[in-house]
Amino acid sequence: MMPHDFMPGLAGIPAAKSAVSDVDGERGVLEYRGIRVEELCKRSSYLETAYLLLFGHLPTRAALSRWVEDVAHHRRLKYSIIDLMKCLPEQGHPMDALQAAVAALGMFYPGRNVEDMENNYWSAVRLIAKLPTIVAGWARLRRGDDAIPPRDELGFSENFFYMLTEKTPHPLWVDIFDDCMILHAEHTMNASTFTGLVTASTLADPYTVVASSIGALKGPLHGGANEEVVQMLREIGTPDRAGAYVDEHMRTKQKLMGFGHRIYKVKDPRATILQSLCGSLFKTCGTSQLYDIALAVERKATDFLKEKKVHPNVDFYSGIIYDKMGIDTDLFTPIFAMARVAGWLAHWLEQLRENKLFRPDQIYAGEHDRPYVPLDQR
Ligand code: ACO
Repeated sequence: MMPHDFMPGLAGIPAAKSAVSDVDGERGVLEYRGIRVEELCKRSSYLETAYLLLFGHLPTRAALSRWVEDVAHHRRLKYSIIDLMKCLPEQGHPMDALQAAVAALGMFYPGRNVEDMENNYWSAVRLIAKLPTIVAGWARLRRGDDAIPPRDELGFSENFFYMLTEKTPHPLWVDIFDDCMILHAEHTMNASTFTGLVTASTLADPYTVVASSIGALKGPLHGGANEEVVQMLREIGTPDRAGAYVDEHMRTKQKLMGFGHRIYKVKDPRATILQSLCGSLFKTCGTSQLYDIALAVERKATDFLKEKKVHPNVDFYSGIIYDKMGIDTDLFTPIFAMARVAGWLAHWLEQLRENKLFRPDQIYAGEHDRPYVPLDQR
């Protein structure tokens, strides 16, 4: 095989053969296991979609009910995990708390023998079940409140709200939040999925794999952008100030958060669905100033960025929905992780079938045969 040219960011270099999901960046189409996300948002639930991603097919009625039950029965956290979270600094970022707690889960549950597929099933169940409990638990513990234990009879999204607020929300909110979970569940070979796969290729346990992915998701060029978008919209303050803000950003060649994508050359289909979810949400609880600012930013930014094929991505509108639901801004990326864990685990299971240690090459650009200069002669 001929050595490749160096591609910064591995742009365009396939890192895996995968049947989990596909993006057509020219047409703006995203499919999970061949089914379009629009269809899944209309007809599926987050947990059913997670099953589809993990096992490659939609579950039968009996399989779905067993899956939902298995997840519901594994939501609780051991006291030691809650005690561990209580020891973390309350001003720390929730993504760091999530990463620490997920890594710690691996010390409590057997996950090292990744050849044991039965055990891998239970690891996947535990991770999908416990991430929301960690996120909601940390959100309360850092304020000095007790963590609220999950309720088995509540669905995935309803239970998350309950653990966060001690109340069950309006059913429409539950549906909208569940759609947000579906839209964030998977997205081909992105930075956090690749990070997880590199860790997984060493045959590390799945808790370590997911903790690695959480670390990669945190950065503002990836999942952390949803938090930055809302901060940007707050900084702009009113829709009439959006034009000047965008002008200034373009003049000084700064990136607008929530815009651009390595693969999409048109508007991210998830951004389009999220916008329509904004519309449904605002019918029950009034519009949002942030949304009006976002529309003004999109209009103005499109004038500059259309030619470069830079459009709003998934992170541009998701935070506006969570903000309207009263969720703290720094929980947006952990919520992204709660959903994306399904995709990370689907890729992990797929890779285990034909695993090969990731060990890429480099192009050495340094010197050779340099003399060692003794300390007193430097
Ligand atoms: N604002 C303004 N210009 C942009 C933006 C943006 N958000 N994104 C890309 N561009 C411009 C670049 O300046 C560059 O222009 P140039 O060719 O004149 O230099 C061109 O579009 C190509 O951009 P790159 O950064 O080279 O494209 P890349 O594929 O590496 O970047 C990325 C993709 C990192 C997502 C980028 O668009 C970005 O930084 N966006 C802002 C952060 C963000 O929203 N991240 C979330 C992505 S979705 C997700 O991860 C869940």
